[in-house]
Amino acid sequence: MARDARRSHDWIAPMDSPRAAIVTGASSGIGLAVARMLGERGHAVTLVARRPEKLEAAYAQLRGEGLEVQRVAADVGDESDVVRAAAAHRDAYGRLDVLMNNAGVGIGSPIGELKTKRMDLQLATNLRSIPLFYRESLAMLTAAGAEHRNARVVNMASLAGKQGQPWLSVYSATKSGVVGFTQAMNKELGALGIKSTALCPGFVDTPMTDFLKRQVPAGSMIHTSDIVAAVAMLLSLTPGCVIPEIAFERPAAGSLV
Ligand SMILES: NC(=O)c1ccc[n+]([C@@H]2O[C@H](COP(=O)([O-])OP(=O)(O)OC[C@H]3O[C@@H](n4cnc5c(N)ncnc54)[C@H](OP(=O)(O)O)[C@@H]3O)[C@@H](O)[C@H]2O)c1
Repeated sequence: MARDARRSHDWIAPMDSPRAAIVTGASSGIGLAVARMLGERGHAVTLVARRPEKLEAAYAQLRGEGLEVQRVAADVGDESDVVRAAAAHRDAYGRLDVLMNNAGVGIGSPIGELKTKRMDLQLATNLRSIPLFYRESLAMLTAAGAEHRNARVVNMASLAGKQGQPWLSVYSATKSGVVGFTQAMNKELGALGIKSTALCPGFVDTPMTDFLKRQVPAGSMIHTSDIVAAVAMLLSLTPGCVIPEIAFERPAAGSLV
């Protein structure tokens, strides 16, 4: 039966068609939650993260839930690892419908005490990795775009990329860069059916914010399920629609994001 756009809840492909995704930073927090949702929606998912043991645990968990996943331990700040991760995905699944560039690190410091190594780590992980993943995935994304006009790339920015934060200045700059790069990708690749979205959350209850939880209770933070819901919503959009950016605010955030 012909597919009807107006009745579809998931526009990438019918549930019984093959589809595949890469999620970076998939061993923890937001990435793990989104990888699970994509797996549950019928995607074969390549899980990418840095520390092999932690990645192995996430992989075992998702496999135990019956999901089709593979894992690639890779440092997204290392170009050869990005090339290897994209190639491993291509070899295993042969297509790419959703790319989620989520891996990230935040290291706070006053600007006068900036350590070059820590700055470079944040730039390489949070920002430089993203154009590299686009480049290495472009042929697969282009094929998916030609097939269903709805290849989706989700880039993890932050509210700190919209409102620069003191002591998190380099982190803020990397996330601002993600927002700008996402805008450029929509202009450059939109006509190919490749749509990009930057996610800009305030504090999310994940291991990344553990250091803050005495000051900002976990219960007052954004939940990973909020991010999952947004990514699921992006998958349900028809090919003629792109949402370039989504901000997630906490209602009583005050001066903290
Ligand atoms: N939590 C928040 O409040 C918040 C708010 C706004 C935006 N974000 C962004 O959301 C993303 C996910 O963060 P999260 O809160 O889910 O944190 P998380 O639980 O600490 O997860 C971070 C993930 O990124 C991976 N990762 C870090 N550096 C990597 C590298 N060089 N190569 C490959 N993987 C790497 C980690 O794997 P390893 O542990 O193996 O390194 C882990 O899987 C990040 O980009 C973060 O900046 C978070």
